[in-house]
Amino acid sequence: MEVTARKGMKVFVNVASWMDGWNGSHDMENGNERREREGGVKRLVLFPCPYQGHINPMLQLGSFLHSKGFSITVIHTQFNSPNPSTHPEFTFFPIQDGLTAEEISSGNVLAFLLAINANCKASFRQCLTQVMEQEPDNKITCAIRDDLMYFTEAVAKDLNIPNIMLRTSSVTNVLARTAVPQLHSKGHIPFPGITLHCWIANSQSLNPVPDFHPLRFKDLPTSNFDTFEKYSELVVNAFDVRTASAMVWNTTDCLEQSSLAQIQQQFPVPIFSIGPLHKIEAAASSSLLEEDTSCIAWLLKQSNNSVIYVSLGSVASISEIELAQMAWGLANSKQPFLWVIRPGSVSGSEWIELLPQGFIEAIGEGGCIVKWAPQREVLSHRAMGGFWSHCGWNSTLESLSEGIPMICTPSFGDQKVHSRYVSQVWNVGMHMDNELERGEIERTVRKMMVDADGEVMRVRAKDLKEKIEVSLSNGGSSYNFLNKLVELIMLF
Ligand code: UDX
Repeated sequence: MEVTARKGMKVFVNVASWMDGWNGSHDMENGNERREREGGVKRLVLFPCPYQGHINPMLQLGSFLHSKGFSITVIHTQFNSPNPSTHPEFTFFPIQDGLTAEEISSGNVLAFLLAINANCKASFRQCLTQVMEQEPDNKITCAIRDDLMYFTEAVAKDLNIPNIMLRTSSVTNVLARTAVPQLHSKGHIPFPGITLHCWIANSQSLNPVPDFHPLRFKDLPTSNFDTFEKYSELVVNAFDVRTASAMVWNTTDCLEQSSLAQIQQQFPVPIFSIGPLHKIEAAASSSLLEEDTSCIAWLLKQSNNSVIYVSLGSVASISEIELAQMAWGLANSKQPFLWVIRPGSVSGSEWIELLPQGFIEAIGEGGCIVKWAPQREVLSHRAMGGFWSHCGWNSTLESLSEGIPMICTPSFGDQKVHSRYVSQVWNVGMHMDNELERGEIERTVRKMMVDADGEVMRVRAKDLKEKIEVSLSNGGSSYNFLNKLVELIMLF
C-alpha cells in the first residue's frame, strides 16, 4: 500500500516501505525519549464531533498520543465543550458553532451534523491559523478529525496540514451506511416521499439485505429523521478520504476482521484498527455530565454477576409509556439493577418525575437509579452480570471488553447494526425485537440473569474479552497498529 502526498500537501509518505520495515514486536519509545531524539514536541490538533460517544474515543486517542510525546491541541465546538480540567495536559480552543437552540434541542442528529459542517469551516480555519501564528516553531504535525466533521478536511488541506480520519463507529456500520445509497440506486429502497427509516421499518423490514448477512433491512443504520438526500449528503462527505493520510478505527481485528478486509478494498488509504481505545490508555473521564459514583457503593453490596446495568447512552430518549414499561419490567424481573436515567432523556420530564407510582417503593434496595454513571468502572465491577444497552459503539466495546453479555434495544443509526452483531455474530447478547413491553422485558432480563441462556452468553463474552485483551497486548493486532500509527505520524 502506498500513500503518496495528496495534492497540496507538503508531506510525502511511502507507507508501504515504512510498513514493510515494521515487525511490530518492539516496545514503543516513550515520550521523553522521543522528545530527546526529535529535539522538540510535535503538535497534533484534534477535532471531535460534539457527542459524548465521539468525544470519548477522540480524547482517549489524544491521551495515548500524548503519552508518546506529542503535544495535543483540541479544537471543539462551543456546544458540548469537553471539560479542560479533566485533561490539563491538552490545550483546548472552543470555536463558534453557530448552532441554534432549535437545532440543539430538535433531536435530529442528521440535521445537527449537517449544520455543524456548514457552520464551522470559517471559525475552524481562523482558529487553526491563530494556533499556527502564535507558535510558529511548534508547527502542527497533523490534524486528527472525526469522520463526521468532514468540513475540517478541506481546511487542513488548504493549510497544508496532513490529516488523519478517526472513525468512532464500527467498520460494519460504515459498510452498511455506504450500502444504503447503493441499495437505493438498485431499486431496493424507493425514494423520495417517505423517510428512509419509515420505509425500512414498515415494509420489507425482516428481509435480508443482499450480500450483507446477517443484516436485515430493519438493521440498516438509518434514523427516523433521515431523508434520502440528507442521508446521502452526510454519507458522501464523511466517506471522502481523498486527502486523508490514514483512517483510524476504534475497533479490533478479532471483532471485525472480514469487515476490515472489505473496507480496505473500498478505501485506498492505510487502515489502522487500534481499539478498543478506552482500554489503551487509562485516560481520565471525558464525561460531559457529572458521574454519580455513589452507585459503586451500591454495587459493592451486590453479589457477583448479579446486577443488570441499564443505560441508553447520551442521545437516545424514551417516552413516558416506555419508561413505565422499563420500570415494571425491571421490577418484576426481581433482579438487582443499576439504571441510568439521563436528565431530559424521558420526553416531557426533567428526570424521574414520570416514573410510575409505587415503583420506587416496590424496588426498595433492589435497584439504584442515577443520572449518569462511571460506566467503564461499572462494567468492570465484579457484580456486573449483564448490560441492557442501546448499543452505541462505545457502550458495545466497553461491554465486550469486560466480558459482559448484552440485552440490545437499539434506538437509531449504527446502534441497529451493532445490536445485530452482538446477538447474531458475536453471540453475546439478546435483541429485544418488539416495542418495549414490561412482560417481554421481565422475561428477557430473567433469561439473561437467571437462565442457562444467559450463562452461556456470559461464558462466550468472557472468551471474547480474552481475545480483545490479546489484541491489545504486546504483539497483538491493535497493539501493532498503534505502534504503526505513532511511526506514521512521526514521518509527517
Ligand atoms: C453516539 C451514538 O448515539 C452512537 O450510536 C454512536 O455509536 C456513538 O455516538 P451514544 O449514544 O452516547 O453515542 O453511545 P455510546 O457510543 O455508547 O457512548 C456513550 C459513552 O458515554 C460511553 O463511552 C459510556 O461509557 C459513556 N457513559 C454512558 C457514561 O460514562 N455514563 C453513563 O451513565 C452512560
